[in-house]
Amino acid sequence: MLLDLLHLLTTPAPQAQRRLGYLRDSIWLMSRARRCRRAWAPHLEASRAVMRAAIAACERRDTAVVLGSGLLLDVPLEDLAASFRRVVLVDAVHLRSARRAIRAFPNVEALTADLSGAMALMTGAAHDLAPRLPPVCAEPATGLVISANLLSQLPIRPVERLEASRHPLGAWEPSAGDAFGRRIVEGHLKALAGLKARVCLVTDIDEVGEDRQGQVRARHDLLYGVRLETPERAWTWELAPFGETARNRRLIHRVVGFSDWRP
Ligand SMILES: C[S@@+](CC[C@H](N)C(=O)[O-])C[C@H]1O[C@@H](n2cnc3c(N)ncnc32)[C@H](O)[C@@H]1O
Repeated sequence: MLLDLLHLLTTPAPQAQRRLGYLRDSIWLMSRARRCRRAWAPHLEASRAVMRAAIAACERRDTAVVLGSGLLLDVPLEDLAASFRRVVLVDAVHLRSARRAIRAFPNVEALTADLSGAMALMTGAAHDLAPRLPPVCAEPATGLVISANLLSQLPIRPVERLEASRHPLGAWEPSAGDAFGRRIVEGHLKALAGLKARVCLVTDIDEVGEDRQGQVRARHDLLYGVRLETPERAWTWELAPFGETARNRRLIHRVVGFSDWRP
């Protein structure tokens, strides 16, 4: 808890990311990853395996971009740095541990950017969703773009904020949050679909809350009704083992991976 507070106070992050809760989320993710290290290991390895398959099959080896690089837990950074001339890691927040890891590779750089298109809307700087991918994704030299366990995360803060404020998309209706979440998910996929580079997509798609008898107590669609194609690989991620969020309930996410995603 104290360590989290120290990170919150000392991590360099833009004001918007601080104010909108992205920095807090990253620190929280880091703490949970530490507590759940063993439960998360198979998911992280499966994610890296899909990304490694994409790297191995990639023909253009100049630039690779990782969207949602975050703590670099599921990103095979060494493989990327060894395979590409330039690697660009994009996230709303880069914590110190990630910055340290990046410094070890002279051809890896961090780019801080909003990938939902909603941050400017949330701060009142825009009236609708803005473009979502940094220009490097569309550069001719870019051979690989990886969306790294990001898609389901993109709508979380914007939808929460919309639901709390009943703003800025007009009068609030119960379905407005879901529709907004869906637009953000669809927007990311549409932006990826427009790229010339190979796209590797790894994302969780739904969450199940299970009791100690294995009974499903809750189910939550993380992609707001957006359906993906049949994945190359699929697995489960025990996001919160028993005792992490509730004594007698654990949270399990279904995850899909595509080393060469095309809509
Ligand atoms: C589940 S984590 C992905 C894990 C990450 N690939 C890793 O290995 O640690 C989701 C990431 O998405 C990032 N994220 C969430 N919303 C974002 C946004 N609007 N723009 C950019 N990054 C965002 C978070 O900061 C977080 O690092």
